[in-house]
Amino acid sequence: MKMDYKDNYFNFTFTADKSTGLYNNIVGDVYHSIYGALEEAEEKFIAPLDFINNYYCKPEIRVLDICYGIGYNTKAFLKKILQTNYKGNIKIDILEYDKNLVTISPFIKDNLFNTYPEVSYILSASLINEVYNNRDTIKSIMSDKYNYKFFEPFYRNLVKQFYYFGYNYKPQNKNNSFLHNIYYHCISQRIKKPPKAFKFNNFIIKPYFDDARATIQKLSNKYDIIFLDAFTPSKLPTLWTLEFFMQLYKLASEDSLLVSYTNSTAVRHAMTDAGFYVGKLFDCNKRHCGTIASPNNNLIKNKLDNYDIGLMHTKAGIYYRDKNLNSTAEEIIYLYNKEKAESKLQSSSQFIKKYKMENIYEPV
Ligand SMILES: C[S@@+](CC[C@H](N)C(=O)[O-])C[C@H]1O[C@@H](n2cnc3c(N)ncnc32)[C@H](O)[C@@H]1O
Repeated sequence: MKMDYKDNYFNFTFTADKSTGLYNNIVGDVYHSIYGALEEAEEKFIAPLDFINNYYCKPEIRVLDICYGIGYNTKAFLKKILQTNYKGNIKIDILEYDKNLVTISPFIKDNLFNTYPEVSYILSASLINEVYNNRDTIKSIMSDKYNYKFFEPFYRNLVKQFYYFGYNYKPQNKNNSFLHNIYYHCISQRIKKPPKAFKFNNFIIKPYFDDARATIQKLSNKYDIIFLDAFTPSKLPTLWTLEFFMQLYKLASEDSLLVSYTNSTAVRHAMTDAGFYVGKLFDCNKRHCGTIASPNNNLIKNKLDNYDIGLMHTKAGIYYRDKNLNSTAEEIIYLYNKEKAESKLQSSSQFIKKYKMENIYEPV
């Protein structure tokens, strides 16, 4: 899908943790929570992985970041890798149809640059070809009089010079002066001896700029971690359908964890019918903050209880369908509304009332 920056389809904003967030004017939805884009990624996508127990000992970790946007989930994951000094190899496949967002992602103020500049370096190095090919748009976005404050000053200067002089850029040669400058100014002066985790070969990050539904049908790798961070299901249901989860199930390794911020009963039902074991996520205040799924039931800590499962069999559990993985959002919503209108299932409010009468139910 071609996203033309001139169409003004997104706006930057600072979120409460000082990381940059975005709003999409076409979908009418936020890309990030206003309480903190980075914090949200760490709380909803990284903490549930229980990295040390589930991943630290693996020699290689494969990640599928669906809906990368400006990359907070991948960035927070890389931060975790650096924090724990993980020694293995990391392979991350990025699924995002908006090339503009992906190519500006290393340069954005994300509240990580001062403490973990390696993260933007790893991303710049991995995305250097795409950054170079999209340099005209990147320059327009970064030099716009409203936008420029959302980018790290260090990168604003570097990208400007990169744009004008090309920095002896040779696509086949990653060891060019653009990356050298980042390394020299941000990292080597800080870390005299880079940790093992910070070697090029340890990170392979590959973007796929297409509709994620098309990309997943071409992938054959098995992934240990799947981040699913699509827009709100009711606003854009394309990546929340039964058929999409069936494809994800095929790509999930035996001990894979799929993490998502949604608490939607319909989504949980679709994940379950696709073959996943499904559980709930809670934030540090014990509030519901998402859903986790895995082919391995032992990895699900907070399993769905009778209440959640009962709710899945009401109208609230009717999920979105996309038979050939190519319907428009409007077509998916139309079918969904039709099925709901014709359904003889109990409504969720009837179910909740009955459940409360039969059980002394205290919602968590
Ligand atoms: C809620 S935002 C994700 C935010 C992101 N994780 C971040 O850290 O910035 C949803 C993203 O999904 C992308 N997207 C929506 N539908 C898509 C599709 N069918 N295929 C690929 N990307 C899609 C949008 O371009 C947007 O960047």
